[in-house]
Amino acid sequence: MSANDAVLIEDHGAKWVVRLNMPERRNALGRDVVAGITRAAEQAGRSKVLRAVVLCGAGDKAFCAGADLKERQSLTPDEVRVFVGQMNFAFRSIERSPKVWIAALHGACLGGGLELSLCADLRVAQRDAILGLPEVRLGILPGAGGTQRLPRLIGVARAKELILTGSRITADHALALGVVNRVADDHEAAAHALADEVGLAAPISVMQAKRAVDEGYDLHLEAGLAWERACYEVTIPTKDRLEGLAAFAEKRPPRFQGE
Ligand code: COA
Repeated sequence: MSANDAVLIEDHGAKWVVRLNMPERRNALGRDVVAGITRAAEQAGRSKVLRAVVLCGAGDKAFCAGADLKERQSLTPDEVRVFVGQMNFAFRSIERSPKVWIAALHGACLGGGLELSLCADLRVAQRDAILGLPEVRLGILPGAGGTQRLPRLIGVARAKELILTGSRITADHALALGVVNRVADDHEAAAHALADEVGLAAPISVMQAKRAVDEGYDLHLEAGLAWERACYEVTIPTKDRLEGLAAFAEKRPPRFQGE
């Protein structure tokens, strides 16, 4: 299966791999890649069996080198505006996906590439990964959510250091800042391991927990707690909740059906 030639999908049932596939351009975000991301997110959302997606890049040099600077040179200012809108739409469709997305980062993870990974639920970096938001060194600023998502993830001061200097950091530094969840020798294997763990949990619980965090994060605590109750409520009538209790009582692993 493929979203298009620029973005490939490997379907392993409960787990998919979505791979940016323009290694000769270091998987830079051009029109085809962005359209492929949107399509992959739509396809993922429709799958009844899919639980978690590993998002990664082809080739050994980069997860994604950010905006396609070659394509960008040929765009008019109005075309740039339209394209940035499409990029934001594509990224948001990952963030709002009912599935769990795990970004597996290696090599260059710069600009829009880092911003894309910030839309995933979890990030795993290979030791060679270099992360950064170099946009201010290119006469622009992070325009695919970086100025909004990075401060929410790691705090304003830490985010500003990266955003205002455009500096590049190592995987270990990114781990210390909280940009990535894990550093691993093999980023894809580590992402797969996380995806498999997600696959063991109750599907409705995971989906509702993601909504509880994502849509509750910016709320006042009282409103956030009410939102958490609303998400919890969805799990109460499920068969999987009863299965979880039965499995505990019978000292066996649960067999969740997503119902
Ligand atoms: N857009 C378009 N093409 C890109 C690209 C980008 N963002 N990044 C790399 N490429 C292309 C290069 O132009 C080169 O093409 P060529 O072979 O036709 O000359 C090819 O990918 C390989 O790039 P190269 O620099 O030789 O590879 P590398 O592995 O040594 O370095 C990077 C990779 C990503 C570290 C380096 O290319 C880079 O710094 N790119 C710019 C990243 C950036 O500033 N992104 C932010 C955009 S807002």
